[in-house]
Amino acid sequence: MLTEKIAQIRKDAEAALALAKDEGILKAWENTYLSRKGELNSILRTLGTLSDEEKRIVGPLGNETKTVLYLALQKRREEVENSLIDTDVERLDVTLPGTPASFGHLHPITRIEQEIQDIFIPLGFGLADGPELESEFYNFNALNVPADHPARDMQDTFWLKGKWGKDRFVLRTHTSSVQIRYMEKHKPPFRIIVPGRFYRNESTDASHEHTAHQFECLMVGEDVSVANFKSVAKSFFSAFFKKDIDVRLRPSYFPFTEPSFEFDINCLLCNGAGCPACKGSGWLEIGGAGMVNQKVFEAVGYPRGKYQGFAWGFGLSRLAMMKYGISDVRTFMSGDLRFIRQF
Ligand code: DAH
Repeated sequence: MLTEKIAQIRKDAEAALALAKDEGILKAWENTYLSRKGELNSILRTLGTLSDEEKRIVGPLGNETKTVLYLALQKRREEVENSLIDTDVERLDVTLPGTPASFGHLHPITRIEQEIQDIFIPLGFGLADGPELESEFYNFNALNVPADHPARDMQDTFWLKGKWGKDRFVLRTHTSSVQIRYMEKHKPPFRIIVPGRFYRNESTDASHEHTAHQFECLMVGEDVSVANFKSVAKSFFSAFFKKDIDVRLRPSYFPFTEPSFEFDINCLLCNGAGCPACKGSGWLEIGGAGMVNQKVFEAVGYPRGKYQGFAWGFGLSRLAMMKYGISDVRTFMSGDLRFIRQF
């Protein structure tokens, strides 16, 4: 009697399962047939009232049926899930091209920095570095630019709140501050370059930017002269532009050098003949330089008159613009990937 009932339940359950088309129905089905209060378990719960002989038959049959139905449910559930997949949409087309991984590359300024190092290191120059958040002492005073000096007006500056001992904080306005930091810790002779970022409180235009890159060159010994400067500059620019370059000096003024000069190289386009790029002069203005002022040596504790050396500083951004033919300095720090990806 009970065995027939169990067989009937199985038949009904299998028929119902075949019709189930979504997870909601499958859940209800599971509830009806397999849950603790479901039909099979209700029968099995009455086993205790049966005779031993009946128990031996009904018990295993009930359990086996439960297992069969449970496996059938799993299989049906899988079928239902698969039937919900739209194979037209989900089909994997292995012939489609993959999504290419995107690779980054070095920023043009970084590349120029590395090219400069590659030229200077074989010439025996070391690489020095210093903080971009500077103290007034390193950025100005030690470079012979005291607070009331008009030369401070040459470099509009970002001052920060707070103090560094007696000093004010400033975003460095040039890489020349690293001259002081380096000389405080080293005795001549030495030769170094200092590529790095600097900041000016500029109103920006195609050739002015508040954040830009410079590189400083400093060579000090007992008999380093302007002739050494000219020779190093000529070697560097010829190697950098891969052609024979001449260097020209013009008198100028910087507080940290004496004498001071602006230096030019001959125009890359016309080789000195005169063209629109150099406004007919044959020369391109490159940067500032000079023989290190003895006051600067004194500020770092060197005895006056014992050493002499040259220093120069000029815009790395400018150099990159000349090399790559870029007309607006603001593109470098713009973060515009359309610009960066061209390199
Ligand atoms: N620091 C100067 C500037 O940013 C450039 C400069 C001029 C650096 C002369 C030097 C130098 O080392 O000797 O305008």
